[in-house]
Amino acid sequence: MGRVFVAGSINMDVVATAERHPRVGETVAGQAVLYFPGGKGANQAVASAKLSIPTTLIGRLGTDAFGRELRAFLAAQGVDLAFVKDTDGAHSGTAIITLAHADNTIVVVPGANGLVDADDVAAPTLAKGDVAVSQFEIPLPTIAAFFRRARAAGVTTILNPAPAKQADKALLDLVDILILNETELGLLAGTELSDHDTASRFAEAARTMGQGKIVCVTLGKRGVLVLVEGHQPLLVPGREVKAVDTTGAGDCFVGALASQLAIGRPLGDALAYANAAASICVQRMGAAPSMPTADEVNAVLSTSRPGAGRDP
Ligand code: RIB
Repeated sequence: MGRVFVAGSINMDVVATAERHPRVGETVAGQAVLYFPGGKGANQAVASAKLSIPTTLIGRLGTDAFGRELRAFLAAQGVDLAFVKDTDGAHSGTAIITLAHADNTIVVVPGANGLVDADDVAAPTLAKGDVAVSQFEIPLPTIAAFFRRARAAGVTTILNPAPAKQADKALLDLVDILILNETELGLLAGTELSDHDTASRFAEAARTMGQGKIVCVTLGKRGVLVLVEGHQPLLVPGREVKAVDTTGAGDCFVGALASQLAIGRPLGDALAYANAAASICVQRMGAAPSMPTADEVNAVLSTSRPGAGRDP
């Protein structure tokens, strides 16, 4: 069995719930303030670890109260934290989230996440069969250094380029599997995309991401569109559930997919599994604490349609 290595952000999510989101310049009365462990890197690592796959997180925390709380939480989820450094002079990453009717807005202040560097990602030993995962909440040159090492060790690389920002071709060329939403794909491909666009529009954009890559476009309720060069686009349909908080659902998908690839499951099965995991995540409040166990995912898979891919 391979191991999942996640190089990424660790945040405390400070969540204000309200009846609706304020417009620019407006104040609305909120209902509650909640604190949840989060950060795209931490969420993806917890998703994988809770599915009982050995998972190492590479990142940084500040030497503050949030940092101590986040470290204790992540350790309790079974994430290996040997390569998470406490960093003096920086605060732990913090996300300010407003949540109304299951949808969120997020402002992330990176703090220590912005200091994760090439030495940090050079520390762990990677081996063939492992899976290396990253996102855009740590510096991009660090991700490139991580993926160069991964590639040299014959490790599968997964990039979730969120939050959306420009990336150069050299970084994208180090990626085996790109998991992103329509906005992120549109930005990287230099075009505007909506989640209702046709599969062929997405395929056209995906072709600009470089050769030999698997591109998975997450389309919310529609599901996940899988684009592989030389193959017909495949839609893994979304599962109908009542969402209470979508924060971290994309991270759950990425972490669950990585975990299944690390144990050698074929891509189609891993996608259906990750879809089921994300459908559980959205039914719970908070990001990292919402990640399901393997028993929970298997229960969903055994009681409903298998989520096999179909033509979009
Ligand atoms: O993807 C969700 C995450 O984005 C939140 O947990 C928040 O910390 C931001 O990083």
